[in-house]
Amino acid sequence: MYAITGITGKVGGEVARHLLANGQPVRAVLRDRAKAADWAAKGCDIAIADMANAEQLAAAFAGTQGVFILPPSDFDPEPGYPEAKRVIDQVTRALMTARPQTVVCLSTIGADAPHDNLLTQRTLMERSLNAIDLPVSFLRPGWFMENALWDVASARDEGVLRSFLQPAGKAFPMVATRDVGRVAADLLRQHWAGTRIVELEGPARVSANDLAQAFAAVLARPVRVEIVSRESWEGLFRAQGMKNPQARIRMLDGFNEGWIEFSDQGRSAVKGDTALLEVITALVAGGAAT
Ligand SMILES: NC(=O)c1ccc[n+]([C@@H]2O[C@H](COP(=O)([O-])OP(=O)(O)OC[C@H]3O[C@@H](n4cnc5c(N)ncnc54)[C@H](OP(=O)(O)O)[C@@H]3O)[C@@H](O)[C@H]2O)c1
Repeated sequence: MYAITGITGKVGGEVARHLLANGQPVRAVLRDRAKAADWAAKGCDIAIADMANAEQLAAAFAGTQGVFILPPSDFDPEPGYPEAKRVIDQVTRALMTARPQTVVCLSTIGADAPHDNLLTQRTLMERSLNAIDLPVSFLRPGWFMENALWDVASARDEGVLRSFLQPAGKAFPMVATRDVGRVAADLLRQHWAGTRIVELEGPARVSANDLAQAFAAVLARPVRVEIVSRESWEGLFRAQGMKNPQARIRMLDGFNEGWIEFSDQGRSAVKGDTALLEVITALVAGGAAT
């Protein structure tokens, strides 16, 4: 039995679908019972647990061969990351109680970055799970191609892609969530000792210009890149309601300045096979709101 957290989201859903397609038993770990029916209909066990509740998580992980940990995203964390630390503490305790045979934890590129930034939340998760005596794989994917969902409306309605990744021609490690889920499902079925890190990116690196070109091809209209200037970020993020934009700003700096990178510029990273155009086609078909 494989317990999958974050199953109602993009990556967790892919992990579960891959396991089910390979005839493996899956326990769907959800916080919202209203979302259980779809997974029960697919033949999954259901466990209700919040990522910040060790008791619920330990029950959900009990008797499993493998557990997939998807740490919840927090783009606007309080200084010092208290919420992430609460989740890390509860997840760690639950794993120590349930002692599954293997653990795959979704981490991120930049979990080893030298400067504090939004991804430090995953540095802390890795540090905590490194200290438990279980086989743990940390899957570190690049930037999700699906983040381009936020560009669908402006590309479609204005022919503009506003980019925080810059300069426009610089190519970044990106990957489709379908590939992340498939690799995580494969890792869950392997056996290893201790902890290990698996870096993952897509078949080719992607620049803002590439994103604009992909949108232009799919939308059949010109799409140009507009660089969002570094000086405007803080005001922009605060206007959008963020209270602590620095962590996100430093993450973007890390990508743009190159200190958020894979260990050897991605040469030894596992490569997914989903192309950018496929993801953009699906996002446009999904039709993001204006
Ligand atoms: N975006 C990127 O470029 C990128 C790159 C590398 C790594 N990552 C990592 O990818 C992860 C996000 O994956 P995703 O895009 O698949 O996320 P997603 O689609 O937003 O789904 C999030 C999932 O987590 C669940 N969840 C959130 N808070 C929870 C809580 N307190 N208790 C239980 N479940 C909770 C959600 O459940 P509900 O349905 O109940 O909300 C949902 O199933 C993050 O850990 C992030 O650090 C992202």
